[in-house]
Amino acid sequence: MLRLSATKNAFGMSRAMVSRRIARKPMNLTHASYSTRSSNQGNSKGKIIVGLGALVAGTTLFNIFYEKENPKSSIDPPLVKRSFPDGAISVIFVLGGPGSGKGTQCAKLVKEQGFVHLSAGDLLREEQKREGSQYGELIASYIKDGKIVPQEVTISLLDRAIKENYNKGQKRFLVDGFPRKMDQALTFEEQIANSKFTLFFECPEEVMLRRLLERGKTSGRADDNIESIRKRFATFIDTSMPVIDYFEKLGKVVKIRCDQPVDEVYAKVKQSIASRSA
Ligand code: ADP
Ligand code: C5P
Ligand code: MG
Repeated sequence: MLRLSATKNAFGMSRAMVSRRIARKPMNLTHASYSTRSSNQGNSKGKIIVGLGALVAGTTLFNIFYEKENPKSSIDPPLVKRSFPDGAISVIFVLGGPGSGKGTQCAKLVKEQGFVHLSAGDLLREEQKREGSQYGELIASYIKDGKIVPQEVTISLLDRAIKENYNKGQKRFLVDGFPRKMDQALTFEEQIANSKFTLFFECPEEVMLRRLLERGKTSGRADDNIESIRKRFATFIDTSMPVIDYFEKLGKVVKIRCDQPVDEVYAKVKQSIASRSA
């Protein structure tokens, strides 16, 4: 099951910090001290003390020699295991403002290079329409307001889709429109898989606006209207750009200008994928 928690608790501690504390807490041994009482308790008590003394001395000696041979690493091992260790799958995040052309470019990569395309927005819209979904109304209202749906919902949809495809032998994923917020980025990379890199489509706002209004004529989307588009632009700048900045500091962003014809953009997309051997 998915463990969610990159967000901080009421004390400002991330789950990773909490688990580290738990891991460092000395084990409570009271439950291990039970024993059956016997009539010659005094005698056996003495034997137990001698036995424990020998055990402690032996263990100490063993530790001294073992640690000499195997010095401890100064780096703590990861406390939470990812579903997919590095190398098991390849994940490329595809980001850019609304209407920058993420879906268009991903569709071309699927056709030519056999990637699996998972659009977080598409998964949310599917879940919204699914009969009996407990999240339907919540998703609809977040999408209309251009706000980021709580990460628990989006990450579990992605987690399931990745695992389903992986079980069919798929290993290369384009995760489109995700992560749109820092908590999504941290949780995904902590619990599912590390991203190989992020393809980021740079596009002037007026170009995206024109494209979205045009798309809105036929898309049937509740958020391809001027009011929602304005809110989506604001969310993109305030909430999603910090994710790009974060990955850029890690040297994991490839920026591509996308206010050019589809095929020109695609040529650059292919080039960046080849250069990162993804
Ligand atoms: P996103 O997934 O980033 O929101 P889309 O791929 O759905 O964007 O593209 C938004 C609209 O712009 C679509 O109608 C699409 O056909 C059009 N479009 C995409 N890329 C280009 C491009 N390079 N030049 C012109 N129109 C484009
Ligand atoms: O990517 P797309 O434009 O299809 O996303 C539509 C909407 O879905 C976003 O404006 C947002 O409300 C929601 N979304 C989200 N978290 C994501 C991706 C999309 O909340 N990672
Ligand atoms: Mg899209």
